[in-house]
Amino acid sequence: MRLSQISKLSALFATVAVQVTAVQFNVTVGGSTGLVFTPEFVNAQPGDVVFFTFKQKNHTVTQSTFDSPCQRSAGGFDSGFQPVPAENVDGPFPVARFAVPGTQPIWVYCRQANHCQQGMVFAVNPGEKFAAYKANAIASGNSTPPAVSSSLPPSPPTSTTVVASPPPTSTPTTGADHRVVVGGPGRLLFDPSTVTAQPGDTVTFEFHQKNHTATQSTFSDPCKPSVGGFNSGFNPVGDSATSFPTFTVPVNDTKAVWVYCAQPGHCSSGMVFAINAATNGTNTFDAFRAKAMGSASSGNTGPSSTGAGAPAPTTTNASAAGRADVQSITGLSMVFISLFLLL
Ligand SMILES: *[C@@H]1O[C@H](CO)[C@@H](O)[C@H](O)[C@H]1NC(C)=O
Ligand SMILES: *[C@@H]1O[C@H](CO)[C@@H](O)[C@H](O)[C@H]1NC(C)=O
Ligand SMILES: *[C@@H]1O[C@H](CO)[C@@H](O)[C@H](O)[C@H]1NC(C)=O
Ligand SMILES: *[C@@H]1O[C@H](CO)[C@@H](O)[C@H](O)[C@H]1NC(C)=O
Ligand SMILES: *[C@@H]1O[C@H](CO)[C@@H](O)[C@H](O)[C@H]1NC(C)=O
Ligand SMILES: *[C@@H]1O[C@H](CO)[C@@H](O)[C@H](O)[C@H]1NC(C)=O
Repeated sequence: MRLSQISKLSALFATVAVQVTAVQFNVTVGGSTGLVFTPEFVNAQPGDVVFFTFKQKNHTVTQSTFDSPCQRSAGGFDSGFQPVPAENVDGPFPVARFAVPGTQPIWVYCRQANHCQQGMVFAVNPGEKFAAYKANAIASGNSTPPAVSSSLPPSPPTSTTVVASPPPTSTPTTGADHRVVVGGPGRLLFDPSTVTAQPGDTVTFEFHQKNHTATQSTFSDPCKPSVGGFNSGFNPVGDSATSFPTFTVPVNDTKAVWVYCAQPGHCSSGMVFAINAATNGTNTFDAFRAKAMGSASSGNTGPSSTGAGAPAPTTTNASAAGRADVQSITGLSMVFISLFLLL
């Protein structure tokens, strides 16, 4: 990395992580070292930040649990797939940023194919348990393929006998991923603006030009973050960007999910999105969008200065904002930074 890049990098980190005086951990995901995180774990304090840099191949940084190392945990963070072609050796590389919420262990894996079962795991504050976690991950390759989601309907009872080691299905079943482009040159919209999704599916927001969020709200208050809802945080993307940060949320049920961009002015310009909105009746997408555009009381004063990358609910209620920050940090608190700016 050239010196000029390093200074720009520092400037970028300084902008994004305004209040972070704490340690920055740098973790490489994949690349020439193979199917590993380098280093394999870090011991961090609350407020520290882990930067995951995705190198060659196509990996994810996904939260799991100690007991099920190769399964996404409910509410856990997930970077989505970050393909980096073999010929990209000098970068820029996608980077995921994770703010360490506390001292409790955080278990992480790559959910590409069977990378986890080959030991591609990572942890924050594993204590003495990292080796056991990794062994669990490798051992899970010899047992049943992971279930996708406990909310999926149970498989129908069959009369077949249970074999000791069922053959893995050709593709480990995951639901469909619905890709939504957020923004772009001269575009203040989510494209598509609605999707119909099944439980077990995922929705991946791909952030294009300008500086947007995908923030969950409610039908009744389209331009305010819902308590406990997901929030991608801001994803600034430069005009000449060719790679785009993503943010993936699991779809848990068929209930309508309402989403907006929290950049001031965007929601009231109609930059909203919905999953499984009704197509008739009162709570349609069009009604939601109209409400967003009429919303004078959006209370949208922009991000709070706590926005060191953790999703910052844009509420004016400071006490509620603080609480929501803490809640969301244990969930989807991963923010993507594209380093294309550094070229
Ligand atoms: C991570 O990288 C940043 C920026 O290059 C650097 O300032 C920091 O010291 C690194 N952290 C560690 C733990 O090496
Ligand atoms: C699904 O549930 C997880 C865990 O509670 C949550 O993080 C995620 O935001 C939910 N998805 C939606 C679309 O609400
Ligand atoms: C990355 O991996 C995912 C999951 O296997 C796959 O769907 C996607 O097409 C891959 N992307 C590239 C560019 O290879
Ligand atoms: C993105 O938008 C947020 C909220 O307005 C702002 O705080 C942040 O500085 C912006 N980032 C960039 C790189 O423009
Ligand atoms: C409203 O939509 C639901 C399904 O989306 C459908 O079952 C129902 O018949 C529709 N009602 C009317 C009045 O169109
Ligand atoms: C702020 O949120 C708290 C807890 O939800 C609530 O009791 C209080 O009335 C709110 N204050 C304002 C000004 O909305």
